[in-house]
Amino acid sequence: MPTLCQAARAASDTHHGSRPAATHHAPRLGIIGAGQLARMTAIAAAQLGCEVVVLAAHQDEPACALATRCVIGDRDDAAKLAQLAAQVDVVTLENEFVDARSLAALERQGVLLFPSAECVGEVQDKFVQKSVLAAHGVATPTFRAVNSEAEVAQAGAELGWPLVLKARRNGYDGKGNATLHSAADIGAAWFKLGGADGELYVEQWCPFVAEVAVIVTRDRHGASVVYPVTETVQRDHVCHRVMVPAPLAPTQQAEVQALAERAVAAVGGVGSFGVELFLMADGSLKLNELAPRVHNSGHYTIEACACSQFENHVRAVFGWPLGSTALRAPAAVMVNLLGSHAGPGRPQGLAEALAIPDIHVHLYGKTRVAAGRKMGHVTALGATIDSALERAESGAAALGFAQE
Ligand SMILES: Nc1ncnc2c1ncn2[C@@H]1O[C@H](COP(=O)(O)OP(=O)(O)OP(=O)(O)O)[C@@H](O)[C@H]1O
Ligand SMILES: [Mg+2]
Repeated sequence: MPTLCQAARAASDTHHGSRPAATHHAPRLGIIGAGQLARMTAIAAAQLGCEVVVLAAHQDEPACALATRCVIGDRDDAAKLAQLAAQVDVVTLENEFVDARSLAALERQGVLLFPSAECVGEVQDKFVQKSVLAAHGVATPTFRAVNSEAEVAQAGAELGWPLVLKARRNGYDGKGNATLHSAADIGAAWFKLGGADGELYVEQWCPFVAEVAVIVTRDRHGASVVYPVTETVQRDHVCHRVMVPAPLAPTQQAEVQALAERAVAAVGGVGSFGVELFLMADGSLKLNELAPRVHNSGHYTIEACACSQFENHVRAVFGWPLGSTALRAPAAVMVNLLGSHAGPGRPQGLAEALAIPDIHVHLYGKTRVAAGRKMGHVTALGATIDSALERAESGAAALGFAQE
């Protein structure tokens, strides 16, 4: 794209400086965001000979060390988004909270963006997302918009307690959620989630027997591949570990995969998407949420699948053929490494962890630790879930992030 190349030559305040554009350049991927998801995508893209430009809030972000270039700026700054787009062939994102109107403006300028602004707009508001999915016949927890504390009380009376009050936007790791056990909990939760000035909605509490998640990669023409179904375990609403295969009958596994593919198609997704579902005691499924991006429940695919969620994402956004999602081992377990305190943090225990046979340690290069912050993960493959679990948990237990 000559216009983009010309713009790349003109771009000036990039981290590694500008360089002359070659006539036949490597494929160039732009990523809005520079956290661990962008970092692992950049690694996959680099393997395929791509150059990667990331839009980072600051130069210490995890993907900056691995990107070809970094644009430093705010993801809500239209000029910075345009500056990123000007340097690449295709733009993607690692975080669904970029303003969909800014993304639509990029598309109007001729930028190739996957997933599209329309798709991100539908997914980033959980209430809209669930409405779109429900309209396509995808089962979700019963939900409704609430505009006042009185409407929450009425929803509780009608749907029953507990009730989950959720922020429509910007929630992650359970931070936008509050579980209400009775009407007495409404006031504090409404205040905590900013109900007075934000948009909230409620969901019926789902007494699930397990949480499962699956990655779908959908290409630009609507064909998709789907990964094996995982079982995810949350602690304090944060993903603690992911186990594959999930303990499901083959027909149920196929049902989850079909539902997930249908959900990603319903929002017109392109790229790798994470799909979280609740498995109910009667065997039915309810879709909890979609993420229009690579997802924590798919980190295991780096070592455990023929083609990882990250590589397939890169393939999808460039319009290249998608790779096989087949497992390369009977079982795999991924355990997140979460921070336990706030402050500077230096990885400790790496040698001890690496002494455990057949584990794969991923450290995201974050210099600051915070309680619950995702600092890295450990994956182990095995003949059984139990053998992989034992090694992955031992590896995670050996690793920590010390205050200096
Ligand atoms: N309706 C519900 N019924 C029962 N549990 C729920 C419900 N909604 C959410 N949860 C629990 O809270 C967790 C986090 O909720 P949700 O996925 O909506 O939040 P999130 O902030 O987007 O989280 P994440 O970033 O970890 O995906 C879920 O994985 C589940 O364990
Ligand atoms: Mg979730």
